[in-house]
Order: sequence, then C-alpha cells, then structure tokens
Amino acid sequence: MTEDEAFLALYRDMTRQGPGTPEDVQWALSQIALPEAPRVVDAGCGPGADLVTLAKALPHGRIEGVEQLEHLAQEAHEATRGFTNVQVFQGDMAEIEGPCDLIWCAGALYFLGVAEGLRTWRTALAPGGAVAFSEPVLEPGAPDAARDFWTEYPALTDFSGLEARVHDAGFEIFGAREIKGLAWAGYYAELSARIAALRDGAGTALSAVLDAAEREISLWRQAPGHVEYRLILARPRLVTV
Ligand SMILES: C[S@@+](CC[C@H](N)C(=O)[O-])C[C@H]1O[C@@H](n2cnc3c(N)ncnc32)[C@H](O)[C@@H]1O
Repeated sequence: MTEDEAFLALYRDMTRQGPGTPEDVQWALSQIALPEAPRVVDAGCGPGADLVTLAKALPHGRIEGVEQLEHLAQEAHEATRGFTNVQVFQGDMAEIEGPCDLIWCAGALYFLGVAEGLRTWRTALAPGGAVAFSEPVLEPGAPDAARDFWTEYPALTDFSGLEARVHDAGFEIFGAREIKGLAWAGYYAELSARIAALRDGAGTALSAVLDAAEREISLWRQAPGHVEYRLILARPRLVTV
C-alpha cells in the first residue's frame, strides 16, 4: 500500500472530512435572505454531510455538490440518494458557474486561498448572493498548544487577518460563528474509531498514516477550546462611485 492509498483508506467512509455540524449550516441559512427556490453550491463537498443538511433545510432549492475526488463525489452521491433536490458533480470548485444564491464551503476554501477563491466566485454569485466558508483562525493569547496544532497551516491568522483577506477580495463579512469544541470532538471521535478499526494488521504505510492522525488528535486534545474554524458569511462589497 502506498502512502496515498493509506491516506485514502483512513479517510474513506467518514461522515465528513473536517469539523462542522448541521447546526452550523442551519445558523448560516438563518442569517441569509435566500429566494424561495435558491441555488446553493457546496464547494468541496467531501462525502456530502452538509449536502444532506442543505437538502432538508431547502426542500424547494437546487442543491449541488462539487468535489474533485472521484471516491468522495461518489460517497456524496450515496449520502444524498433519495433527495431529488441534490446533484453531485465531480469537478473543480474554481470553475463553479453562476448564478448561485449561496456558495457553501466547509473547510475547503484554503485549497484555492481565501482571497483568490472569493475573487473567483464573485462572478458566480447571483445579485444578493453570499459565500459561507469555514477557515482556521488563531486568536491572540491562544496557548502555544493551539499554535502547535496549526504548524502545517501557513495561511493561519487571527480573525482580523481573515477579515483583511476577505476585504482584499472585495467582500465584506456580515456574520461569523465559532466552530470549536463539540464539532471537533465529533469529527475526531469518528476518526479515532477508524484508526482503531484499521490498526490491527496495518502495514508500514498505513501505520505511518494512522500514527500521524493520532498525533493530530492528541495535539488537538492539548487545547480543544482554542483550536478553531471560524464560519464566515461574506458578500461582495458594493462599489460606490
Ligand atoms: C477538508 S475537506 C472538507 C470536505 C467537506 N466540506 C466536509 O466538511 O466534510 C476539503 C474537501 O475539498 C475538496 N477539494 C479541494 N480542492 C478542490 C477543488 N479545487 N475542487 C473541488 N473540491 C476540492 C477535497 O477533495 C476535500 O474533499
């Protein structure tokens, strides 16, 4: 088994590929004035957990998942089977075509870069449309353990740094919510169960991947109240002349 195969084996069949809860999606929807039958795209939808929440919350909407990895697009397709208002596409979220009333993007915008991704999506938004995305932040005064958790994430800033990146892209923030604690605990509980299930008989490559995931979880346990995604609601700033 190669390292890539081992990585896929660990993260296959997870409910989601990063921290987040249905309540986060529901909160975002409660803050955004959507039309009666909105078109919502989940960019980097992974295995589709948020697609299910969106589909239930917006029965008259058109919900689309975009995911670059074939096996995850397939898992999202399976997760949303039975929802006639959902379609899943394997593709590149940088190429989303509008008009979208909402682009939802949980833990995936960093692949494009926050400012770059928002600039790319600006023309895909319908008038009045918004982007909701979650992104790591590290607040001033957070313990060293929280900084240690994010050592492999060079784009990390505090909230004001994130605000600056959103502003640079020509957007403004109109809502923000912390994603920490329980959402992370739930994600890592599922990942821990996968690690335990795969540990017996694991070869060299898989053992290394399991060890790395265990290290990540134990780093999170050092500062669970300070390792955070911030869920951001952003819309294009109006240009005044
Ligand atoms: C951290 S995971 C989050 C997945 C999902 N949103 C969730 O919360 O479970 C990030 C996802 O973005 C996907 N992704 C990364 N770059 C992408 C791109 N350019 N187009 C589509 N999907 C992409 C990855 O394959 C991965 O499934």
